[in-house]
Amino acid sequence: MKLLVTGGAGFIGSAVVRLAVSRGHEVVNLDALTYAACLENVAEVADHPSYAFVQADIRDRAALDRVFAAHAPDAVMHLAAESHVDRSIDGPGTFVQTNVTGTFHLLEAARAYWTGAGRPEGFRFHHVSTDEVFGALPLDADTRFTEDTPYDPRSPYSASKAASDHLVRAWHETYGLPVILTNCSNNYGPFHFPEKLIPVVILNALAVRPIPVYGQGRNVRDWLFVEDHADALLLAIRQGQVGRTYAIGGGAEVANLDLVQRVCAILDRLSPRAEGPYADLITFVPDRPGHDLRYAIDATRIRTELGWRPGVTLSEGLERTVRWYLDNPAWWRALAARDGVGRRLGTG
Ligand SMILES: NC(=O)c1ccc[n+]([C@@H]2O[C@H](COP(=O)([O-])OP(=O)(O)OC[C@H]3O[C@@H](n4cnc5c(N)ncnc54)[C@H](O)[C@@H]3O)[C@@H](O)[C@H]2O)c1
Repeated sequence: MKLLVTGGAGFIGSAVVRLAVSRGHEVVNLDALTYAACLENVAEVADHPSYAFVQADIRDRAALDRVFAAHAPDAVMHLAAESHVDRSIDGPGTFVQTNVTGTFHLLEAARAYWTGAGRPEGFRFHHVSTDEVFGALPLDADTRFTEDTPYDPRSPYSASKAASDHLVRAWHETYGLPVILTNCSNNYGPFHFPEKLIPVVILNALAVRPIPVYGQGRNVRDWLFVEDHADALLLAIRQGQVGRTYAIGGGAEVANLDLVQRVCAILDRLSPRAEGPYADLITFVPDRPGHDLRYAIDATRIRTELGWRPGVTLSEGLERTVRWYLDNPAWWRALAARDGVGRRLGTG
């Protein structure tokens, strides 16, 4: 399959690109290279004959048309987005422009290409989204998000992703574009940009800086190792039913404070510090405005219909992640100077 992957220089997109190339797919990686991008993430495939990179912005319709014409992909995997909730609080405009308007332009470019090619049956437009579009769950109830959970986004980020999900569904209903949607829980793993929770914990710990925990750290997230997500996405695009949504989750719910303590405990083992445990650096900071209490996914559909399940437990995944950051200081040191990294964002 020839895949056009948008956002392939980001965290999840690069995992998709690496996995797709290793499985014999041709990949065209389209990325605008924003602050969140890092071409190092795809360095291992950069010279592969099945891989091409195009720097382009999904808000630029003419550029998108040129990419479709030049590369004639069999399918689109759309991951390009502004993805950091805290940044969406400080500057929601970029989120609307990229996540909503950019997705609109990509849908239109894909539709024109697919129509011009005689509407090939096998074409797919796979929209990669988040469980945050479903809002927040109560902390103590045994409920989880499914594909039928009503939308209830509560941050500028999740609202912009929800809007893009609606556009994708509408392009299927109205124009017949063969779409697949996936909504996934929190990802973690190697190459995670150093503004997100787990890398912040690791890097602040190693620098002996306070490890910030929002509020009381009670917010619960369902964590999925990024390579398991990439695997689910490649399965969904090949075997998913057109027009259908698949919720993807790790089945690994944990409160933020517990997660931070687990990461600290791994660091205590792998890189002990003489002054005492890393958890001593944990510092509670004012909460994020509108911080959703709990996200959790019921992944029954993708498990029963497509046979997917995560292969990496949270313990294994956290250990692999911490080891990766310890082994790859050059990667994260190079990102330390990027705008906003290391600063508290999104205080409202
Ligand atoms: N990170 C998570 O836990 C998570 C969970 C579920 C779903 N998602 C979704 O998965 C996708 C990827 O998330 P991520 O964490 O890898 O994000 P990321 O921020 O690490 O990467 C986003 C990539 O998109 C590119 N990009 C941004 N704006 C662009 C534009 N206008 N044109 C072209 N490229 C642009 C960036 O340069 C970057 O390489 C997003 O759509 C996100 O909503 C993320």
